[in-house]
Amino acid sequence: MSLPQIDVLIADDGRPAVALHAVAAADWEAFAAGQGPRLAAWAKAQDFSGQPGKVLLLPDEAGGLGLAVLGLGKGDDKLIFGAAATALPAGTYRIAGEDAVGAHFAALGFALGAYAYNAFKPSKAKTGRARLLVAPAALPAAARQAAAIWFARDLVNAPSNAMGPAELETAARAVAAPHDASIRLVEGDDLVARNYPMIHAVGRASVRAPRLIDLTWGDAHAPKVTLVGKGVCFDSGGLDIKSAAGMALMKKDMGGAAAMLGLAHMVMDAGLKVRLRVLIPAVENAISGDAYRPGDVLASRKGLTVEIGNTDAEGRLVLADALADADDEGPDLLICMATLTGAARVATGFELPPLFTHDEALAADLAAAALAEQDPMWRLPLWKNYDGWIEGKVADLTNAADSAYAGSITAALFLNRFVTRTKSFVHFDVAAWTDKPRPGHPVGAEAQCIRALFAVLRNRFGSKTA
Ligand code: BES
Ligand code: MN
Ligand code: ZN
Repeated sequence: MSLPQIDVLIADDGRPAVALHAVAAADWEAFAAGQGPRLAAWAKAQDFSGQPGKVLLLPDEAGGLGLAVLGLGKGDDKLIFGAAATALPAGTYRIAGEDAVGAHFAALGFALGAYAYNAFKPSKAKTGRARLLVAPAALPAAARQAAAIWFARDLVNAPSNAMGPAELETAARAVAAPHDASIRLVEGDDLVARNYPMIHAVGRASVRAPRLIDLTWGDAHAPKVTLVGKGVCFDSGGLDIKSAAGMALMKKDMGGAAAMLGLAHMVMDAGLKVRLRVLIPAVENAISGDAYRPGDVLASRKGLTVEIGNTDAEGRLVLADALADADDEGPDLLICMATLTGAARVATGFELPPLFTHDEALAADLAAAALAEQDPMWRLPLWKNYDGWIEGKVADLTNAADSAYAGSITAALFLNRFVTRTKSFVHFDVAAWTDKPRPGHPVGAEAQCIRALFAVLRNRFGSKTA
């Protein structure tokens, strides 16, 4: 396993290519007039007037592909070139005319839109595709981000039988290796001996051993940034088993871990001036005679006891032990990402992951970066009046709050109890999935919020070129 090569982007070396014009709807008539009556008539026959993401192809004199036009609509979608990546026939293209979204977003959008998961369709993987020539100066940053996101999407799209805790470990090693990051691993019964009782309890029912993956990279004296990602490689719900519909997509329950590995790649590849740590509790929430049960009381790494109200609220348990470990060294910034609750989707839908933080400056930086990078997120409160809902009856805490409402908030409040020494903590409750396609976002796995997070980290800890 290794980071993917973004072969749909090519450094522009002057080779021949089909001209690709990007034209907003408002500019369409002027553009068409300038190209002569043949193009205007052909566009009319095709009902093309610069609609967003729509592509118009024109033959040259010999009947080959002469020119391509990408509609920009209102011109408000930075990733619109993602639509061109799938709509254009195989071939090599060069952006002509006005620089609509800038070279960076054209390349990034194109690459994100070109993504397809073909691991189990080798015949499809071999078919030709559209490739974009990119100004050499813009290529490395766009390709770095695209590689991180393709990689994370591949991990999430992989079926659970090909992506268990061991394979997630392999993926972490693949991210670590090119950057000489080190990995510490705590696996199986060692989780008990080394005091990660909840990671062990959730993961012990599976024949695939649970583990904590702990990656470290960078200068020990640099600011400490730690990423924690939920690595539940399949979530059956445990003894509180999910319905068939509820379980259908639960291969994506390691989407937080996948995204944090993608972000780690960006940080290390860009050489940001941080001491990076990535902690991934990798487990399968399975059912067997050894499964943890409703009503059980678990010890935790932090010392708080947790009663199990529902074995399907497993993510917060494995994250709590990882967060407690992360918190021990008092990092400057602790970022947690998890497919934690169905309630998050009810609140804000697939496209807009909720985030939770007490750090106002970080929230403001993230909001600005989310807009600038077109990587949306929405802040929800760590509402303290609901904190009582996670008090346990016989233990310090319960993993299933005493209310059917505000489930994403009470899950965030639960995690927050395990973070006490960290200077700044933020948690994202992501879907890790695109259900309705948009340019740059094919249906299936998604790595959400990591481009915005990278922008914040780069602004705080990076060099200008990163
Ligand atoms: N992995 C799920 C959350 C989830 C469900 C994410 C659907 C994305 C789509 C999580 O482990 C879970 O099952 N959460 C429960 C918590 C409840 C039992 C307190 C939920 O959200 O229903
Ligand atoms: Mn669950
Ligand atoms: Zn889960």
